[in-house]
Amino acid sequence: MSYLKIDHAGKTFPASGGRENVVLQDVRLDIAKGEFVSVIGHSGCGKSTLLNMIAGLTETTSGGIILEGREVNAPGPDRAVVFQNHSLLPWLSVYDNVKMGVQKVFGRTKTKAERHDWIMQNLDLVQMGHAAHKRPGELSGGMKQRVGIARALAMEPKLLLLDEPFGALDALTRAHLQDAVMEIHARLGNTMIMITHDVDEAVLLADRIVMLTNGPAATVGEVLEVPLARPRDRIRLASHPDYVRAREAVLRFLYERHRFVEAAE
Ligand SMILES: Nc1ncnc2c1ncn2[C@@H]1O[C@H](COP(=O)(O)OP(=O)(O)O)[C@@H](O)[C@H]1O
Ligand SMILES: [Mg+2]
Repeated sequence: MSYLKIDHAGKTFPASGGRENVVLQDVRLDIAKGEFVSVIGHSGCGKSTLLNMIAGLTETTSGGIILEGREVNAPGPDRAVVFQNHSLLPWLSVYDNVKMGVQKVFGRTKTKAERHDWIMQNLDLVQMGHAAHKRPGELSGGMKQRVGIARALAMEPKLLLLDEPFGALDALTRAHLQDAVMEIHARLGNTMIMITHDVDEAVLLADRIVMLTNGPAATVGEVLEVPLARPRDRIRLASHPDYVRAREAVLRFLYERHRFVEAAE
């Protein structure tokens, strides 16, 4: 039995005039515990929809999603999502934003002092301990994303779901956060699914890259194993034959699919 099973899952949204918009169709994927999976695909193909289905934020209209043998049909603290644009509450401090999730998960099992230490430990993990008292409005985009990651991690989710979390950041900040995510994954061994449209990010981070076909009715087109040893070093990998090969395979998939769409229009 797989840890997370996406079992012939589909999503149809009602469209105007009584029509239906079939966004995802027959998505099949088995994810092992501790695996890092990247999902890549063209804009609008249904990546966020799929992630939201796994999170339990969006209802699956056909098939199902099964996490540890139980069907996902509502959000739960075992799954945390980091969105592309941070979703911090602007009127709360960094500390209190993280605290909200911690209260929810550890309100009964950790003492107040333990919860405080845990909040600080997670903020330190993303190097934001120094800004615990600040409000989101006082932070840069990269800092806000780091707090979003700390908040998600502090809930110790079995599954960390990341929806293009670094898409809006400059290249240097993105590189730092990618390294931070790889370290966290190595340390905690939790299962992560990250949507990205950045080919290098997908290859650098993932054990497997799931490539979605173009919509409508998008589905898994190809799944690519990334056979690179960890820990991974972006500079040393840049010229590694397996890295170059994986990168090429993803580019080819995206390029050919893209061509296909243009030809069909
Ligand atoms: N709540 C919704 N209601 C209707 N259609 C939606 C909704 N959310 C997403 N869609 C449609 O689903 C498709 C895929 O969207 P999305 O999952 O956001 O794509 P991606 O993340 O790959 O860019 C789009 O055509 C979008 O218009
Ligand atoms: Mg999206």
